[in-house]
Amino acid sequence: MRIIAVLNHKGGVGKTTFTGCTAQALALSGFRVCVIDNDSQHNLSTLLGVGARSPSIRDIYRGTDEKAPELMLRAIRKTDLPDLHIITADKYLCDADIHDIHMLKRTISACRLERFYEVIMIDNAPGLDRLQGAAISAAHEIFVPTELRQFAIDGLVEMEQTIAERYPDGGRISRIIPNFYKNTKRQRAFIAALRRMFPAKVTETSIPVDSVFDEVVTDGKILFLHRLYSTGAAYYLKIIHELFNLDEEKVWEQVMEKRTERIRSEARQRFFEQRERNRQSDEA
Ligand SMILES: Nc1ncnc2c1ncn2[C@@H]1O[C@H](COP(=O)(O)OP(=O)(O)OP(=O)(O)O)[C@@H](O)[C@H]1O
Ligand SMILES: [Mg+2]
Repeated sequence: MRIIAVLNHKGGVGKTTFTGCTAQALALSGFRVCVIDNDSQHNLSTLLGVGARSPSIRDIYRGTDEKAPELMLRAIRKTDLPDLHIITADKYLCDADIHDIHMLKRTISACRLERFYEVIMIDNAPGLDRLQGAAISAAHEIFVPTELRQFAIDGLVEMEQTIAERYPDGGRISRIIPNFYKNTKRQRAFIAALRRMFPAKVTETSIPVDSVFDEVVTDGKILFLHRLYSTGAAYYLKIIHELFNLDEEKVWEQVMEKRTERIRSEARQRFFEQRERNRQSDEA
């Protein structure tokens, strides 16, 4: 089981979008995935159509070693995709809830989540404090989506140092994913600089700017089922291929298969609903 913290101390760089879309793509490609929403904004819980629920990650942090595993198993909820589960956030979640930075790591291990999942992804609030520390401590590695601006790039070097100093036994930055890519000369220069600073960590694929990400959130849709032919979805499949060493064509085929199944079952459901409505109006 791979435990990945998605982290950037900067806000609005695409952490939640990345976590949600990557987890959905993995689940559609046959992986069993659990995501943890470690952010009081609970955007990931909303994105996956579950919303903030109780018990949440906050109850796990505030629990005792005896209670936390049971709370964690109760906190795991289903999403719209059978192979994708979520532990939701709580709007009151804050640094003061973390009494022990290793609580999440210990609880994941006590629940033996590796029996159920191949990948756990933890979405984080911006910042680099105790909340993020709990995720770093639980993680084997850290993925960092970043925007391509000077301050954002300068900040990554500091972030890497801070992580090593504050959380010496936690996960380390393994991949950096450029987001909001517009293929301008300036952005290409930023990517080249990033590659020099973090050799072998920056993904070959950058995620382009695409309004589809806002659309799927607004409409409560799943990118790979409802907007598979968008530029955004195509680039995400490339990223999955790079980050998880999967065959891009195979992923595409599996996603297509699930998509067709899903469209068929939705059509079937609409047909029977319509038939029931017709029957009721005939009777009336
Ligand atoms: N590649 C992209 N192209 C266009 N819009 C994007 C892209 N990636 C993310 N967005 C949009 O940018 C906004 C911020 O993204 P997101 O919420 O994922 O960032 P975040 O890093 O999780 O933010 P926060 O730090 O507040 O948690 C959202 O409206 C999202 O739909
Ligand atoms: Mg977020």
